[in-house]
Amino acid sequence: MAAARRALCWVAVAAAAAAAALALDNGLARTPPMGWLHWERFLCGTDCAAEPRRCVSEQLFVEMADRMAAEGWRDAGYEFICIDDCWMAPTRDEQGRLQADPKRFPGGIRKLADYVHSKGLKLGIYSDVGSKTCAGFPGSYNHYDLDAQTFASWGVDLLKFDGCNSDSLEQLAEGYRLMSLALNKTGRSIVYSCEWPFYLRPLQQPNYTEIKQYCNHWRNFYDVYDSWSSIKSILDWTALHQDTIVKIAGPGGWNDPDMLVIGNFGLSWDQSVTQMAMWAIMAAPLFMSNDLRHISPEAKWLLQNKEVIAINQDPLGKQGYQLSKDKNFQLWERPLSGRAYAVAVLNQQEIGGPQKFTFSLTFLGNGLACNPACSIRQVLPASRDCGVYSWISSLSVEVNPTSTVLLKVLPL
Ligand code: GLA
Repeated sequence: MAAARRALCWVAVAAAAAAAALALDNGLARTPPMGWLHWERFLCGTDCAAEPRRCVSEQLFVEMADRMAAEGWRDAGYEFICIDDCWMAPTRDEQGRLQADPKRFPGGIRKLADYVHSKGLKLGIYSDVGSKTCAGFPGSYNHYDLDAQTFASWGVDLLKFDGCNSDSLEQLAEGYRLMSLALNKTGRSIVYSCEWPFYLRPLQQPNYTEIKQYCNHWRNFYDVYDSWSSIKSILDWTALHQDTIVKIAGPGGWNDPDMLVIGNFGLSWDQSVTQMAMWAIMAAPLFMSNDLRHISPEAKWLLQNKEVIAINQDPLGKQGYQLSKDKNFQLWERPLSGRAYAVAVLNQQEIGGPQKFTFSLTFLGNGLACNPACSIRQVLPASRDCGVYSWISSLSVEVNPTSTVLLKVLPL
């Protein structure tokens, strides 16, 4: 009996080891990373004389770090402040090392990292697997070890590694692998953010099992824009490919549908609710790209909403998926720890007013979510208790056009 139990234990240990080996083994990103990334809002602004508050500069990141620490962002979980493209000088230094543009980053990246760390935050930086970044600055091709060492010596905590300007798919894949190994060799904990599958996909099916062994998260699809059509296209792509991409996500490795654009110009309130709710359902890394110096109280409330963030950060680390879609509504669910489920109802109709959607609780969570009964709490657009339901009952929710009702279903 004892021997049999021991044998079972070994099976469990072996299974756990096999599962762990699937993810990049750097111990990082056990839940989707959260932070701020400059790209969508600030793009490649380099003219600090003309636009001192909008250019990609030391000052921009210092001011954003100040806001993140002072205005509840860090405490809500937004930990990384990340530099995207266009931070570099146009050439490497005499030793071949990447260097920050001396005018826009007069103190250099090391000093910026120290400042960011002093605020209890972490610093992210950007480079590219090819010979040039997407915006034409020096890329890391042929310099993977040197660049990883440089980033580590500066105290960088995350690398976004873009995929422009490789000569071949083999070179692209090899570069992503080599940079992962180079980061590991530095001995510093550096989250590794990839765009490997996105650049591969037009020509080759990505091997997600392999990608997950090298990257902590990876972009699959086009850049997010500050528009509802962009959010819709990301959700549609994700639903269409969910059979391939959902199962691969988990602690250590996540699908990245790109930045949160809430707090900018292009999304209505209802569409902002949809982005926040669906990024939680998708277990997406939460990198805001907005101006934390000018943000409405509503956007701040949504982005700092504890209940939504808790769903996004759920320790079980399972990505959600679309259960059904008709002309008007999409129904999504995400398994959570403690046998709970997050459920999202998205009204995709762009005409008319609020619409009622009624769905049976019997089928949620493969028939287990509300079996024999459950309590349901609405998280978005506002939090409220919806009460207790039995397995055979239905639930009706009213959803504004382009909005989403996000629910948490707890077993009883
Ligand atoms: C690509 C990436 C974006 C951004 C830009 C920078 O388009 O997908 O996220 O990093 O490059 O040039």
